[in-house]
Amino acid sequence: MTETTPRTVSYLEHWDRTEPFDPPAVLAELVRTRPLTRMEYPDGHIGWLATSHDLAREVLSSQAFSHRFYDTHLPVTKKGEIFPGVPIVPGGFIHMDPPDHTRYRNLLSREFSARATTAYTPRVAELTAAQLAEVRAQGSPVDLLPAFIRPLSMRVLCEVLGVPFDTGSPILYALSDSATNVDVSVEEEREAGTKAYFLLMDLVGKARVEPGEHVLGRLAADAELTDREITNMLLIVFAAGFASCEGALASSLLALLHHDDQLKALRAAAAGGGAPAIEAMVEELLRYTSVNQFQIFRTALSDVELGGELIREGEVVTVALPSANRDPVKFACPDALDLGQEASAQLAFGYGVHACVGQRLARLVLSESLAALTVGLPELALDVPVEEVPVRLTTPVLSVLRLPVRF
Ligand code: HEM
Repeated sequence: MTETTPRTVSYLEHWDRTEPFDPPAVLAELVRTRPLTRMEYPDGHIGWLATSHDLAREVLSSQAFSHRFYDTHLPVTKKGEIFPGVPIVPGGFIHMDPPDHTRYRNLLSREFSARATTAYTPRVAELTAAQLAEVRAQGSPVDLLPAFIRPLSMRVLCEVLGVPFDTGSPILYALSDSATNVDVSVEEEREAGTKAYFLLMDLVGKARVEPGEHVLGRLAADAELTDREITNMLLIVFAAGFASCEGALASSLLALLHHDDQLKALRAAAAGGGAPAIEAMVEELLRYTSVNQFQIFRTALSDVELGGELIREGEVVTVALPSANRDPVKFACPDALDLGQEASAQLAFGYGVHACVGQRLARLVLSESLAALTVGLPELALDVPVEEVPVRLTTPVLSVLRLPVRF
Protein backbone atom coordinates (compact mmCIF):
# COMPACT_ATOMS: atom_id res chain seq x y z
CA MET A 1 0.00 0.00 0.00
CA THR A 2 1.58 3.32 -1.00
CA GLU A 3 0.10 6.77 -0.88
CA THR A 4 1.70 9.67 -2.66
CA THR A 5 -0.79 12.51 -2.18
CA PRO A 6 -0.10 14.50 0.98
CA ARG A 7 -2.93 14.15 3.40
CA THR A 8 -3.88 16.43 6.28
CA VAL A 9 -5.32 14.45 9.14
CA SER A 10 -7.48 16.15 11.73
CA TYR A 11 -6.45 16.15 15.38
CA LEU A 12 -9.54 14.21 16.42
CA GLU A 13 -8.89 11.57 13.75
CA HIS A 14 -5.63 10.51 15.41
CA TRP A 15 -7.37 10.61 18.82
CA ASP A 16 -10.44 8.64 17.83
CA ARG A 17 -9.60 5.19 19.10
CA THR A 18 -12.39 2.64 18.82
CA GLU A 19 -10.63 -0.63 19.68
CA PRO A 20 -9.29 -1.67 23.10
CA PHE A 21 -6.23 -3.40 21.65
CA ASP A 22 -5.44 -1.33 18.57
CA PRO A 23 -4.66 2.35 18.04
CA PRO A 24 -6.89 4.26 15.55
CA ALA A 25 -6.73 2.71 12.06
CA VAL A 26 -5.38 5.96 10.61
CA LEU A 27 -2.15 5.50 12.60
CA ALA A 28 -1.62 1.98 11.23
CA GLU A 29 -2.11 3.35 7.73
CA LEU A 30 0.20 6.35 8.18
CA VAL A 31 3.12 4.48 9.75
CA ARG A 32 3.20 2.31 6.63
CA THR A 33 2.56 4.95 4.00
CA ARG A 34 3.37 8.46 5.18
CA PRO A 35 5.09 8.51 8.58
CA LEU A 36 5.30 12.30 8.65
CA THR A 37 2.07 13.99 7.65
CA ARG A 38 0.34 17.30 8.17
CA MET A 39 -2.18 17.51 10.97
CA GLU A 40 -4.77 20.19 11.67
CA TYR A 41 -4.84 21.11 15.38
CA PRO A 42 -8.02 22.17 17.20
CA ASP A 43 -7.26 25.90 16.77
CA GLY A 44 -6.70 25.53 13.03
CA HIS A 45 -2.89 25.36 13.22
CA ILE A 46 -1.52 23.09 10.49
CA GLY A 47 1.29 21.21 12.19
CA TRP A 48 2.56 17.66 11.87
CA LEU A 49 2.01 14.10 13.01
CA ALA A 50 4.96 11.68 13.22
CA THR A 51 4.03 8.00 13.39
CA SER A 52 7.21 5.95 12.83
CA HIS A 53 9.73 4.68 15.39
CA ASP A 54 12.66 6.51 13.74
CA LEU A 55 10.85 9.85 13.56
CA ALA A 56 9.55 9.54 17.13
CA ARG A 57 13.11 9.12 18.40
CA GLU A 58 14.41 11.89 16.18
CA VAL A 59 11.84 14.45 17.37
CA LEU A 60 12.02 13.48 21.04
CA SER A 61 15.83 13.56 21.15
CA SER A 62 16.41 16.70 19.07
CA GLN A 63 17.23 20.03 20.70
CA ALA A 64 15.60 21.71 17.72
CA PHE A 65 12.26 20.81 19.30
CA SER A 66 10.94 22.30 22.51
CA HIS A 67 8.64 20.88 25.18
CA ARG A 68 7.60 24.31 26.42
CA PHE A 69 3.94 25.24 26.12
CA TYR A 70 3.22 27.95 23.62
CA ASP A 71 0.05 29.97 23.58
CA THR A 72 -1.94 28.11 20.99
CA HIS A 73 -2.56 24.73 19.35
CA LEU A 74 -2.13 22.55 22.44
CA PRO A 75 -2.87 21.20 24.91
CA VAL A 76 -6.49 20.39 24.36
CA THR A 77 -8.89 19.29 27.04
CA LYS A 78 -10.36 15.81 27.20
CA LYS A 79 -13.29 17.21 25.23
CA GLY A 80 -11.06 18.47 22.44
CA GLU A 81 -11.11 22.16 23.47
CA ILE A 82 -8.03 24.34 23.71
CA PHE A 83 -6.87 25.32 27.17
CA PRO A 84 -6.08 28.96 27.74
CA GLY A 85 -2.27 29.42 27.92
CA VAL A 86 -0.59 27.34 30.58
CA PRO A 87 2.10 29.32 32.44
CA ILE A 88 5.35 27.62 33.39
CA VAL A 89 5.48 27.45 37.18
CA PRO A 90 8.60 27.17 39.38
CA GLY A 91 9.56 23.49 39.46
CA GLY A 92 7.21 22.69 36.55
CA PHE A 93 10.05 20.87 34.78
CA ILE A 94 7.95 18.68 32.49
CA HIS A 95 7.36 21.66 30.21
CA MET A 96 10.84 23.17 30.43
CA ASP A 97 13.76 22.69 28.07
CA PRO A 98 17.40 22.13 29.08
CA PRO A 99 19.15 23.62 30.99
CA ASP A 100 16.17 24.67 33.17
CA HIS A 101 14.73 21.17 32.89
CA THR A 102 18.07 19.50 33.65
CA ARG A 103 18.42 20.95 37.13
CA TYR A 104 15.11 19.51 38.36
CA ARG A 105 15.37 16.32 36.35
CA ASN A 106 18.76 15.44 37.88
CA LEU A 107 17.32 15.78 41.38
CA LEU A 108 14.61 13.28 40.47
CA SER A 109 16.73 10.91 38.38
CA ARG A 110 18.68 9.89 41.48
CA GLU A 111 15.38 9.07 43.23
CA PHE A 112 14.45 6.63 40.45
CA SER A 113 17.91 5.32 39.52
CA ALA A 114 18.63 1.59 39.15
CA ARG A 115 20.06 1.54 42.67
CA ALA A 116 17.10 3.39 44.19
CA THR A 117 14.65 1.10 42.40
CA THR A 118 16.44 -1.99 43.71
CA ALA A 119 16.00 -0.58 47.19
CA TYR A 120 12.23 -0.13 46.58
CA THR A 121 11.87 -3.77 45.41
CA PRO A 122 11.16 -5.57 48.73
CA ARG A 123 8.54 -3.00 49.71
CA VAL A 124 6.81 -3.14 46.32
CA ALA A 125 6.72 -6.95 46.68
CA GLU A 126 5.17 -6.59 50.16
CA LEU A 127 2.56 -4.09 49.00
CA THR A 128 1.71 -6.37 46.06
CA ALA A 129 1.30 -9.40 48.33
CA ALA A 130 -0.92 -7.41 50.71
CA GLN A 131 -3.10 -6.23 47.83
CA LEU A 132 -3.40 -9.76 46.49
CA ALA A 133 -4.51 -10.90 49.95
CA GLU A 134 -7.17 -8.15 49.79
CA VAL A 135 -8.39 -9.51 46.43
CA ARG A 136 -8.66 -13.01 47.90
CA ALA A 137 -10.51 -11.64 50.92
CA GLN A 138 -13.04 -9.90 48.67
CA GLY A 139 -13.59 -13.21 46.84
CA SER A 140 -14.47 -14.13 43.28
CA PRO A 141 -15.80 -12.45 41.15
CA VAL A 142 -14.12 -9.11 41.78
CA ASP A 143 -13.42 -5.86 39.97
CA LEU A 144 -9.62 -5.71 39.84
CA LEU A 145 -9.54 -1.96 39.25
CA PRO A 146 -10.64 -0.87 42.76
CA ALA A 147 -9.48 -4.11 44.42
CA PHE A 148 -5.92 -4.23 43.13
CA ILE A 149 -4.80 -1.93 40.32
CA ARG A 150 -5.70 1.49 41.73
CA PRO A 151 -4.78 0.97 45.39
CA LEU A 152 -1.47 -0.71 44.53
CA SER A 153 -0.45 2.05 42.10
CA MET A 154 -1.44 4.67 44.70
CA ARG A 155 0.24 2.96 47.66
CA VAL A 156 3.53 2.56 45.83
CA LEU A 157 3.59 6.21 44.75
CA CYS A 158 2.51 7.49 48.17
CA GLU A 159 5.27 5.54 49.91
CA VAL A 160 7.99 6.47 47.45
CA LEU A 161 7.02 10.13 47.38
CA GLY A 162 6.33 10.43 51.11
CA VAL A 163 2.58 11.12 51.16
CA PRO A 164 0.55 9.44 53.97
CA PHE A 165 -1.83 7.09 52.15
CA ASP A 166 -4.83 7.48 54.45
CA THR A 167 -5.06 11.26 54.35
CA GLY A 168 -3.40 11.89 50.98
CA SER A 169 -4.93 9.27 48.68
CA PRO A 170 -8.53 10.68 48.56
CA ILE A 171 -7.15 14.04 47.38
CA LEU A 172 -4.77 12.42 44.90
CA TYR A 173 -7.43 10.06 43.52
CA ALA A 174 -9.67 13.09 42.98
CA LEU A 175 -6.86 14.87 41.14
CA SER A 176 -6.23 11.94 38.84
CA ASP A 177 -9.93 11.30 38.20
CA SER A 178 -10.57 14.94 37.40
CA ALA A 179 -7.90 14.77 34.72
CA THR A 180 -9.29 11.66 33.06
CA ASN A 181 -13.07 11.97 33.45
CA VAL A 182 -14.59 13.74 30.45
CA ASP A 183 -17.53 14.94 32.51
CA VAL A 184 -15.36 16.97 34.88
CA SER A 185 -15.13 20.65 33.93
CA VAL A 186 -11.91 22.64 33.64
CA GLU A 187 -12.92 24.54 36.84
CA GLU A 188 -13.46 21.31 38.81
CA GLU A 189 -10.15 20.03 37.51
CA ARG A 190 -8.42 23.21 38.73
CA GLU A 191 -10.08 22.84 42.13
CA ALA A 192 -8.80 19.26 42.46
CA GLY A 193 -5.34 20.53 41.46
CA THR A 194 -5.45 23.26 44.12
CA LYS A 195 -6.39 20.78 46.87
CA ALA A 196 -3.52 18.49 45.88
CA TYR A 197 -1.18 21.48 45.74
CA PHE A 198 -2.01 22.48 49.33
CA LEU A 199 -1.78 18.89 50.55
CA LEU A 200 1.77 18.62 49.20
CA MET A 201 2.74 22.17 50.22
CA ASP A 202 1.75 21.32 53.79
CA LEU A 203 3.79 18.10 53.73
CA VAL A 204 6.80 19.97 52.33
CA GLY A 205 6.53 22.49 55.20
CA LYS A 206 6.52 19.64 57.75
CA ALA A 207 9.41 17.88 55.99
CA ARG A 208 11.56 21.02 56.24
CA VAL A 209 11.53 20.39 59.99
CA GLU A 210 11.57 16.58 59.92
CA PRO A 211 12.70 15.39 56.45
CA GLY A 212 12.07 11.58 56.40
CA GLU A 213 13.38 8.89 54.03
CA HIS A 214 11.39 9.54 50.89
CA VAL A 215 11.47 11.74 47.79
CA LEU A 216 9.61 14.58 49.48
CA GLY A 217 11.90 14.47 52.53
CA ARG A 218 15.09 14.46 50.49
CA LEU A 219 13.89 17.35 48.30
CA ALA A 220 12.85 19.28 51.42
CA ALA A 221 16.40 18.88 52.77
CA ASP A 222 17.68 20.84 49.76
CA ALA A 223 17.89 24.47 50.87
CA GLU A 224 18.23 25.67 47.27
CA LEU A 225 14.71 24.58 46.38
CA THR A 226 11.70 26.67 47.41
CA ASP A 227 8.54 25.07 48.81
CA ARG A 228 6.71 25.97 45.59
CA GLU A 229 9.34 24.31 43.44
CA ILE A 230 9.24 21.08 45.47
CA THR A 231 5.44 21.05 45.51
CA ASN A 232 5.20 21.49 41.74
CA MET A 233 7.87 18.84 41.13
CA LEU A 234 5.93 16.37 43.27
CA LEU A 235 2.64 17.24 41.59
CA ILE A 236 4.19 16.44 38.22
CA VAL A 237 5.68 13.16 39.40
CA PHE A 238 2.34 12.12 40.85
CA ALA A 239 0.28 13.26 37.86
CA ALA A 240 2.63 11.70 35.31
CA GLY A 241 3.13 8.56 37.36
CA PHE A 242 -0.17 7.45 38.86
CA ALA A 243 -2.47 7.45 35.81
CA SER A 244 0.21 5.84 33.64
CA CYS A 245 0.98 3.14 36.19
CA GLU A 246 -2.71 2.39 36.71
CA GLY A 247 -3.42 2.44 32.96
CA ALA A 248 -0.44 0.23 32.10
CA LEU A 249 -1.35 -2.33 34.74
CA ALA A 250 -5.03 -2.35 33.74
CA SER A 251 -4.32 -2.52 30.01
CA SER A 252 -1.66 -5.21 30.41
CA LEU A 253 -4.00 -7.36 32.48
CA LEU A 254 -6.83 -6.92 30.00
CA ALA A 255 -4.51 -7.86 27.11
CA LEU A 256 -3.30 -10.96 28.95
CA LEU A 257 -6.81 -12.03 29.93
CA HIS A 258 -7.83 -11.71 26.28
CA HIS A 259 -4.80 -13.70 25.03
CA ASP A 260 -4.93 -16.89 27.06
CA ASP A 261 -1.79 -18.41 25.51
CA GLN A 262 0.19 -15.31 26.48
CA LEU A 263 -1.27 -15.34 30.00
CA LYS A 264 -0.12 -18.95 30.36
CA ALA A 265 3.35 -18.08 29.06
CA LEU A 266 3.70 -15.29 31.61
CA ARG A 267 2.42 -17.49 34.44
CA ALA A 268 4.90 -20.25 33.50
CA ALA A 269 7.79 -17.75 33.45
CA ALA A 270 6.73 -16.27 36.79
CA ALA A 271 6.29 -19.68 38.42
CA GLY A 272 9.77 -20.60 37.19
CA GLY A 273 11.07 -17.57 39.09
CA GLY A 274 12.60 -16.08 35.95
CA ALA A 275 12.87 -12.35 36.61
CA PRO A 276 14.71 -11.61 33.29
CA ALA A 277 12.01 -13.51 31.37
CA ILE A 278 9.20 -11.55 33.06
CA GLU A 279 11.02 -8.27 32.48
CA ALA A 280 11.28 -9.01 28.75
CA MET A 281 7.56 -9.87 28.66
CA VAL A 282 6.74 -6.59 30.38
CA GLU A 283 8.56 -4.74 27.57
CA GLU A 284 6.28 -6.43 25.05
CA LEU A 285 3.18 -5.55 27.10
CA LEU A 286 4.35 -1.92 27.30
CA ARG A 287 4.89 -1.89 23.54
CA TYR A 288 1.58 -3.52 22.70
CA THR A 289 -0.56 -1.42 25.05
CA SER A 290 1.31 1.93 24.64
CA VAL A 291 -0.94 3.56 27.19
CA ASN A 292 0.26 7.16 26.71
CA GLN A 293 -1.66 7.49 23.50
CA PHE A 294 -1.84 11.22 22.86
CA GLN A 295 -0.43 14.61 23.71
CA ILE A 296 3.22 13.79 23.18
CA PHE A 297 4.23 16.84 21.20
CA ARG A 298 7.12 19.21 20.55
CA THR A 299 7.38 22.66 18.93
CA ALA A 300 10.10 23.54 16.38
CA LEU A 301 12.40 26.25 17.78
CA SER A 302 13.61 27.18 14.28
CA ASP A 303 13.16 25.89 10.75
CA VAL A 304 14.34 22.29 10.80
CA GLU A 305 14.47 19.39 8.36
CA LEU A 306 12.69 16.23 9.45
CA GLY A 307 11.92 13.12 7.42
CA GLY A 308 12.52 14.97 4.15
CA GLU A 309 10.16 17.82 5.06
CA LEU A 310 10.82 21.37 6.26
CA ILE A 311 9.25 22.01 9.64
CA ARG A 312 8.86 25.75 10.14
CA GLU A 313 9.67 27.52 13.41
CA GLY A 314 6.65 27.38 15.73
CA GLU A 315 5.04 24.38 14.08
CA VAL A 316 3.96 21.58 16.40
CA VAL A 317 4.90 17.96 15.78
CA THR A 318 2.82 15.36 17.61
CA VAL A 319 4.55 12.03 18.14
CA ALA A 320 2.23 9.02 18.09
CA LEU A 321 3.87 6.54 20.46
CA PRO A 322 1.24 3.82 19.81
CA SER A 323 2.10 3.66 16.10
CA ALA A 324 5.87 4.03 16.70
CA ASN A 325 5.45 0.94 18.88
CA ARG A 326 3.69 -0.86 16.03
CA ASP A 327 6.19 0.14 13.34
CA PRO A 328 6.70 -2.89 11.06
CA VAL A 329 10.23 -1.70 10.30
CA LYS A 330 11.15 -2.10 13.95
CA PHE A 331 9.09 -5.00 15.32
CA ALA A 332 8.66 -8.49 13.86
CA CYS A 333 4.98 -8.87 14.81
CA PRO A 334 3.88 -5.25 15.24
CA ASP A 335 0.16 -5.79 15.72
CA ALA A 336 0.20 -9.01 17.74
CA LEU A 337 0.83 -9.50 21.45
CA ASP A 338 3.73 -11.94 21.41
CA LEU A 339 5.53 -12.19 24.73
CA GLY A 340 8.38 -14.03 23.02
CA GLN A 341 9.06 -11.03 20.81
CA GLU A 342 12.13 -8.82 21.33
CA ALA A 343 10.55 -5.51 22.33
CA SER A 344 13.25 -3.68 24.28
CA ALA A 345 13.19 -0.87 21.69
CA GLN A 346 9.61 -0.02 22.69
CA LEU A 347 8.92 3.69 23.22
CA ALA A 348 6.04 3.57 25.72
CA PHE A 349 8.13 5.66 28.14
CA GLY A 350 8.99 8.25 25.50
CA TYR A 351 12.57 9.03 24.53
CA GLY A 352 15.24 11.69 25.00
CA VAL A 353 15.61 14.11 27.90
CA HIS A 354 11.92 13.89 28.85
CA ALA A 355 11.75 10.08 28.76
CA CYS A 356 9.85 8.78 31.77
CA VAL A 357 11.90 9.34 34.90
CA GLY A 358 9.90 6.69 36.80
CA GLN A 359 10.24 3.94 34.20
CA ARG A 360 12.26 1.57 36.38
CA LEU A 361 9.71 1.83 39.17
CA ALA A 362 6.88 1.33 36.66
CA ARG A 363 8.57 -1.81 35.29
CA LEU A 364 9.03 -3.08 38.84
CA VAL A 365 5.35 -2.61 39.72
CA LEU A 366 4.27 -4.31 36.48
CA SER A 367 6.62 -7.29 36.90
CA GLU A 368 5.79 -7.85 40.56
CA SER A 369 2.05 -7.50 40.19
CA LEU A 370 1.61 -9.49 36.97
CA ALA A 371 3.71 -12.33 38.41
CA ALA A 372 1.82 -12.26 41.73
CA LEU A 373 -1.63 -12.20 40.13
CA THR A 374 -1.02 -14.88 37.51
CA VAL A 375 0.74 -17.32 39.86
CA GLY A 376 -1.34 -16.47 42.95
CA LEU A 377 -4.67 -16.78 41.11
CA PRO A 378 -4.21 -19.80 38.80
CA GLU A 379 -7.83 -19.70 37.57
CA LEU A 380 -7.82 -15.96 36.81
CA ALA A 381 -10.15 -15.11 33.88
CA LEU A 382 -12.42 -12.30 32.69
CA ASP A 383 -15.87 -12.51 34.26
CA VAL A 384 -17.61 -10.89 31.27
CA PRO A 385 -17.03 -11.18 27.50
CA VAL A 386 -14.10 -8.94 26.51
CA GLU A 387 -16.44 -6.62 24.53
CA GLU A 388 -18.24 -5.82 27.79
CA VAL A 389 -15.16 -4.54 29.60
CA PRO A 390 -15.55 -0.72 29.58
CA VAL A 391 -12.28 0.62 28.20
CA ARG A 392 -11.35 4.30 28.53
CA LEU A 393 -10.44 4.68 24.88
CA THR A 394 -10.13 8.39 24.18
CA THR A 395 -8.29 9.80 27.17
CA PRO A 396 -4.55 10.53 26.97
CA VAL A 397 -3.84 7.46 29.09
CA LEU A 398 -5.56 4.26 27.99
CA SER A 399 -7.22 2.37 30.84
CA VAL A 400 -10.38 0.56 31.89
CA LEU A 401 -13.33 1.73 33.98
CA ARG A 402 -13.83 -1.75 35.43
CA LEU A 403 -12.01 -5.07 35.14
CA PRO A 404 -14.40 -7.80 36.32
CA VAL A 405 -12.59 -11.12 36.83
CA ARG A 406 -13.18 -14.46 38.52
CA PHE A 407 -10.52 -16.64 40.05
C1 HEM B 1 3.93 2.16 32.93
C2 HEM B 1 3.76 3.33 33.46
C3 HEM B 1 4.27 4.60 32.83
C4 HEM B 1 4.26 5.00 31.52
C5 HEM B 1 3.75 4.23 30.32
C6 HEM B 1 4.85 6.33 31.46
C7 HEM B 1 5.04 7.05 30.31
C8 HEM B 1 5.68 8.28 30.21
C9 HEM B 1 5.96 9.00 28.99
C10 HEM B 1 5.54 8.57 27.60
C11 HEM B 1 6.62 10.13 29.31
C12 HEM B 1 7.17 11.17 28.32
C13 HEM B 1 6.26 12.34 28.07
C14 HEM B 1 6.77 13.26 26.97
O1 HEM B 1 7.84 13.05 26.40
O2 HEM B 1 6.05 14.22 26.64
C15 HEM B 1 6.74 10.14 30.75
C16 HEM B 1 7.34 11.15 31.46
C17 HEM B 1 7.37 11.18 32.81
N1 HEM B 1 6.99 10.15 33.68
FE1 HEM B 1 6.19 8.39 33.23
N2 HEM B 1 5.19 6.70 32.74
C18 HEM B 1 4.85 5.68 33.60
C19 HEM B 1 5.05 5.64 34.96
C20 HEM B 1 5.63 6.64 35.68
C21 HEM B 1 5.90 6.59 37.09
C22 HEM B 1 5.62 5.40 38.01
C23 HEM B 1 6.43 7.82 37.41
C24 HEM B 1 6.88 8.33 38.74
C25 HEM B 1 7.25 7.63 39.74
C26 HEM B 1 6.51 8.62 36.21
C27 HEM B 1 6.96 9.91 36.13
C28 HEM B 1 7.18 10.62 34.96
C29 HEM B 1 7.69 11.98 34.91
C30 HEM B 1 8.03 12.84 36.09
C31 HEM B 1 7.82 12.31 33.56
C32 HEM B 1 8.34 13.64 33.00
C33 HEM B 1 9.83 13.54 32.80
C34 HEM B 1 10.47 14.84 32.29
O3 HEM B 1 9.77 15.69 31.73
O4 HEM B 1 11.68 14.95 32.44
N3 HEM B 1 6.01 7.88 35.17
N4 HEM B 1 6.18 8.99 31.29
